[in-house]
Amino acid sequence: MALIPQEEITALRQCVDIVEVISSYIPLDHKGKNYFGVCPFHADHSPSMSVSKEKQIYKCFSCGAAGNVFTFVQNYENVSFAQAVEIIAQKVGFHLSTPIKSIQNEKYSHYYEIMEVSSKYFTNNLKTEQGKAALEYLAKRFLDNNAIKEFNIGLALKNKDLLYQILKSKNYQEKDLENLGLINNHEQITDVFINRVMFPLHDPNGNIIGFSGRLYDNSEGPKYLNTRETIIFKKGQMLFNYHRAKNSIQNNKSIILVEGYMDAIRLYLNGVKNVVAIMGTSLTSDQIKLIQKLHCKVILCLDSDEPGQKATYEIGNILKNQNFEVEVIRLTGNKDPDEYIINQGIDAFKKNLNSPIKFLDFTINYLKQNKNLNETVDLANYVNDVLKDLSQEKDPILIDITLKKLADTYNLDYEILQDKLKQIDKLNKDIKQEKELKFVNDNKNIKLSKYEKTLKNLLFFMMNDAKYVRIYQENLVFINEAKYREIIKEILYYYELHQTINLADFLSFVTNNENVLPDVLNIVNVCSDIELEETAFYDFLKSIKVVNEKQTIKELKEKLKNCMDKNEKIKIANQIAEIKKGCV
Ligand code: GTP
Ligand code: MN
Repeated sequence: MALIPQEEITALRQCVDIVEVISSYIPLDHKGKNYFGVCPFHADHSPSMSVSKEKQIYKCFSCGAAGNVFTFVQNYENVSFAQAVEIIAQKVGFHLSTPIKSIQNEKYSHYYEIMEVSSKYFTNNLKTEQGKAALEYLAKRFLDNNAIKEFNIGLALKNKDLLYQILKSKNYQEKDLENLGLINNHEQITDVFINRVMFPLHDPNGNIIGFSGRLYDNSEGPKYLNTRETIIFKKGQMLFNYHRAKNSIQNNKSIILVEGYMDAIRLYLNGVKNVVAIMGTSLTSDQIKLIQKLHCKVILCLDSDEPGQKATYEIGNILKNQNFEVEVIRLTGNKDPDEYIINQGIDAFKKNLNSPIKFLDFTINYLKQNKNLNETVDLANYVNDVLKDLSQEKDPILIDITLKKLADTYNLDYEILQDKLKQIDKLNKDIKQEKELKFVNDNKNIKLSKYEKTLKNLLFFMMNDAKYVRIYQENLVFINEAKYREIIKEILYYYELHQTINLADFLSFVTNNENVLPDVLNIVNVCSDIELEETAFYDFLKSIKVVNEKQTIKELKEKLKNCMDKNEKIKIANQIAEIKKGCV
């Protein structure tokens, strides 16, 4: 954190209201002293997150999330703490003395820099004599200079270690290059990407974290070669083109999901900017979270072949389960959106885009595949499959229309279909309830020991009010657990610096201290509903003291047992007696 002065962070925090900020992300309801909303940090439908206007903190009683206004934005936007500070400063027009450039200087900045330098090297190669064949390839794929510039398309040359030599000459460490998946270090050092057209891959914030290299002449190998998983490149946590598409997705309130890079590039270049590519056939929970953040409906536009249809069905169901509104565009006659647009033009694509089909309609059609609906068993299976998917649907009108259609088309009894659907609904509800219960139980603390609870309360009081820090200093008790001792140290240090303490600002203070932050957040989460009362605090101190004394007696007794010296024995016995009398 060092970069933004702590005073500035505190000043900024004091001029924003956490309730206002959080409600700009999720709807909040006012109930009693607190505000409640559906927690965005775990899959949920019930309002398990509470926000305290008084304490300026939030907590989720289901998943254990907790923090102040900065940690909320940090986790919601998936950015660093410094970036969260910057975002909030911009929201309220607060002037930060630290320039934005250095704020972005975060944990992996050195790695991002190496990736950026590598990308520049690749893009430069395209402009050289040796880039001619690759440029011709790109031209054949209708990627002109404008496209090359927009997507920073580059070229890895045929030589075995040119990137390595360049980066070495710039004094970058071999180890870093290896860690970033740019070089291989078997027997000899070689570049990972050789003779490929290079597409940089970005994280949601636009940092280059990897590359995908495509074959462009008739050399051997996989069509695309991706950077392997590295400290910064996690394929399952990114979507191709997400950082460029974010704004457009939010403006359009929809995201178009395509399979390939080329599809995303083609749409984007043609002005359909709310598009991302999944780069694989399924969707990870991290990728779903990225989409959830943008509060949009999802339009699936995958390849039109059999695997593409299967992926549409599977991904659509995953998304429906997460309460997304899902629609499907089917582009017939062409392999993928890229080909479709090249052959039919962007206007034809936009026509399709303007009349997508509901995922349910896609499903009803898709499930017919490989079934002969004239056969009784196939038809029964088909109807059951449709009902299963229908049970994920929310809109009662859509449900009713579908049931009637099914009944009409296949000459079935409407009431029987309705009953069956109710049965499936009930089963789903039971399963869901079981899951949610398990989730809550897994995340709640397994009954805290009374002692630990007392310690947590003690610390919570001290984080909230300097009065309790002072009482603690006057009545020092030993804290047995190292992790809580660390927190006390931080509290005392904070108090020494500021002569005051306040929960929300203390959270900013420890936010980059990974040794204490998780425990501090946990304390905030489990203690935040407790009323601060002085008598309670004295009780905590007393009961901690009693536990300490019991512990000491236990240790002394152990010592007594093992002691051979008679005088020493008497001494220990006296110590025990004194503790018991409360003289120590
Ligand atoms: P083009 O052939 O260049 O048009 O590719 P595309 O973007 O249309 O990709 P395609 O539909 O063939 O495949 C979809 C996506 O799967 C690609 O964009 C890549 O992300 C990924 N992919 C395809 N082939 C490979 C491969 O050989 N290796 C790896 N790692 N990924 C691949
Ligand atoms: Mn393609």
